[in-house]
Amino acid sequence: MCGIVAYLGDRNAFEVIIKGLKRLEYRGYDSSGIALSADNQLKLYKKTGKVSELESFTNSEDLNGGTGIGHTRWATHGEPTDNNAHPHLSFDGTLGIIHNGIIENYASLKQELLNKGYEFKSDTDSEVVIHFIEDIRKNNNCKLDEAVRLALSKVIGAYAIVIIDRNDPSRLIAARKGSPLVIGVGKGEYFLASDATPIIEYTNEVVYLNDFEIAIVCREGLTLKNMEDVESSPYIQKIDMELDAIEKGGFKHFMLKEIFEQPKSIGDAMRGRLNAAEGQLALGGIRDYLNRLISADRIIVLACGTSWHAGLVAEYFFEEWCRIPVEVEYASEFRYRNPIIKEGDVIIAISQSGETADTLAAIELAKSKGAIIFGVVNAVGSSIPRATHVGAYIHAGPEIGVASTKAFTSQVTVLSMIAMIVSYKKGTISETSYHELLVELETIPEKVQIALGLDQRSQSIARSFMNATNFLYLGRGYNFPVALEGALKLKEISYIHAEGYPAAEMKHGPIALIDEEMPVVVIATNDSSYEKIISNIQEVKARKGKVIAIVTEGDEVIPRLADYVLEVPKTHEALMPLVSVIPLQLLSYYIADLRGCNVDQPRNLAKSVTVE
Ligand code: AGP
Ligand code: GLU
Repeated sequence: MCGIVAYLGDRNAFEVIIKGLKRLEYRGYDSSGIALSADNQLKLYKKTGKVSELESFTNSEDLNGGTGIGHTRWATHGEPTDNNAHPHLSFDGTLGIIHNGIIENYASLKQELLNKGYEFKSDTDSEVVIHFIEDIRKNNNCKLDEAVRLALSKVIGAYAIVIIDRNDPSRLIAARKGSPLVIGVGKGEYFLASDATPIIEYTNEVVYLNDFEIAIVCREGLTLKNMEDVESSPYIQKIDMELDAIEKGGFKHFMLKEIFEQPKSIGDAMRGRLNAAEGQLALGGIRDYLNRLISADRIIVLACGTSWHAGLVAEYFFEEWCRIPVEVEYASEFRYRNPIIKEGDVIIAISQSGETADTLAAIELAKSKGAIIFGVVNAVGSSIPRATHVGAYIHAGPEIGVASTKAFTSQVTVLSMIAMIVSYKKGTISETSYHELLVELETIPEKVQIALGLDQRSQSIARSFMNATNFLYLGRGYNFPVALEGALKLKEISYIHAEGYPAAEMKHGPIALIDEEMPVVVIATNDSSYEKIISNIQEVKARKGKVIAIVTEGDEVIPRLADYVLEVPKTHEALMPLVSVIPLQLLSYYIADLRGCNVDQPRNLAKSVTVE
């Protein structure tokens, strides 16, 4: 994955691109680069490291030019070096390319080109594409867009590419298959990017490029054609995203801002859908296939990472309220099995970015076996909602910190609403329980606000454990996925090894790890397994482990046993993950920040994993 930005118009392309790359840095930050077309030359600037390094590196350069392409990389083929940074030039230097994705048959294409005498400056798969396009253009003596079309018909893999021609700065050629590309349409100017964030301050009119489409972007207009060379008119959509939503707004990090946004983002997930006083709950997006869900024999949830944890919480909802068996699958595993999909099966795919390659591929596989796919996605207009039959957006707004926080709580909120609707319509939940749940769900934003009051306390606990090398997270029932999520948050941003476990499973192995050095975070809210989790805490204490307990307010028992306590407001057991996850997010944020880690852009990670 990586971020790509390109500009064609009268503004200073460098400024538009560098600003855009900073917004897309969440997608990758191994290196960055820009190519500008000026005076029949392609000026190329590339630097390993963050976009700010590229900015300092180009400080004293003359950066004029109204057409350019830029890239921030998450390396797949070749180390993060200056040479491997994009843009890459064609062999004769006339063309430049930026690429997001993986070219699977790059090795055979490269060999053909090497045989013809082409030389390569990088180890990337992307450079192969631009040499290949150059070769086809020369051999066929055709226009650039035609050469791109012919080349792409032989390319296997995933790509969003933009190509610049040294000799024709009035034109950019773009194409996509499997990686996102949005084109912002201004007055006599165009902005191309991996998502809309680099575009929204200039225009709210965008065209989402589809797979197998090629865009010919010229000052006079935008033309689209498909791989069969058939032209189509672009479908211009208006996007509704505020600039504030993609800025830090006074917080030190996006992650902290996003943690604090949760009362609002959870509220937004329910807005216009839930009205407990009127007993109303409806999700317009899933209406068309709701009966399939109501009559489902089985639900298969497909997701990765944090979204997979949200899926685990949903498993409890659907099994308990709707009495539908659920399997929660890692999309990456599911796609490489030969999964059994039967007529009564329904798939729910969950994704923040809507671009996760494994989830998308798993959806396609399930679709090819005849399954109906529901999507629960944050990024509007992304690839997953377009690949699913129906879905509900979670409306959490842009999530920029690589560690997912507000998307998790909004996913759980939307999944809980879907399960409530299904159980009610199916008659597997009593009228009273249903109404209790609606009322309780509506109170969650307030309760999350109260839980955010644990900010200072979490920071002080973080100080005591910032040098720990291992952490264990334990939870039971609805809080088991929360334990997994707490451990994932900690490891991804602080680089401390952490494991999440069902609390009762501890005695089957991890208990061997416990000694006075081992912090154990126990999510011990007052629910149906309360007594049992107290026993688990005793087991940890008996082995001198340090217990940090997340408890329900007013608990008088656990504070006497645990070393540190974080109290959250009481809520319905099923909805507790929405509240109990808050102190875990804060704890991992503060531990990472105290350790001096780059919280928003942790090493080796990227926000959307658009490669396998
Ligand atoms: C979460 O903190 C992670 N960075 C990661 O596990 C993420 O949840 C996963 O890559 C799935 O992404 P998606 O929700 O955009 O599909
Ligand atoms: N495969 C290309 C590279 O390694 C692009 C990677 C990406 O999309 O992040 O440079």
